[in-house]
Amino acid sequence: MGKVSVSMLSADFGHLAQSCQMVNESAAWGFHLDIMDGVFVPNISYGFPIIEAIALYAKKPLDAHLMTVEPWRYYERYKKIGIDWLTVHYEACPHLNRDLQEIRRLGMKAGVSINPATPVSVLEQAVYYADLVLIMSVNPGFGGQAFIESSYEKIEQLCRMREEKNLRFLIQVDGGVNDSRAEILYEKGADILVAGSYVFSAKDPAAAILTIS
Ligand code: DX5
Ligand code: ZN
Repeated sequence: MGKVSVSMLSADFGHLAQSCQMVNESAAWGFHLDIMDGVFVPNISYGFPIIEAIALYAKKPLDAHLMTVEPWRYYERYKKIGIDWLTVHYEACPHLNRDLQEIRRLGMKAGVSINPATPVSVLEQAVYYADLVLIMSVNPGFGGQAFIESSYEKIEQLCRMREEKNLRFLIQVDGGVNDSRAEILYEKGADILVAGSYVFSAKDPAAAILTIS
């Protein structure tokens, strides 16, 4: 089917090394790191010390999703820690072109994300500078929320845009992903699915990853 990026937000932080090892040995493509500042979203997740700890154990791509205002203040720091894919929110960046170019200049893959109520059409220009587009299929801020059904339509629209413009950015979908939705999401055009609670609430997280890979 496709690639899975495991959201570490739902991992057991008391046993972070084991969770990282599970992801390393699983079918997952990478580690999805949800960074929340309590301003852009109504929640605070974790910051640099935890990201550094994950980076120490991770042997797969580090895919960071910044749900923060003024994300540009820390691009260099993310690069230093070893982030490979850095995704910022369209809603947080008034100068998105500059942000995406700066992320690329620092040697990371540049991603842009849109909230559920933001239409795909606002990305008409940004997609020229993006390596990844992340469609939020829940309102950002919390794991374990229900998938918003209108996200399917947005994946199709984005796929059409990618084809028409002959671009190669990857399409990532984040929020409410589970085994009943994975196949259709890949069919609609998603390349990478993010999953947190579905993976970590399973008795066998590695087996759960396989069911959505
Ligand atoms: C939500 C985060 C997601 C979240 C996904 O703000 O961006 O990555 O952790 O969690 P689940 O898979 O539980 O919906
Ligand atoms: Zn995320």
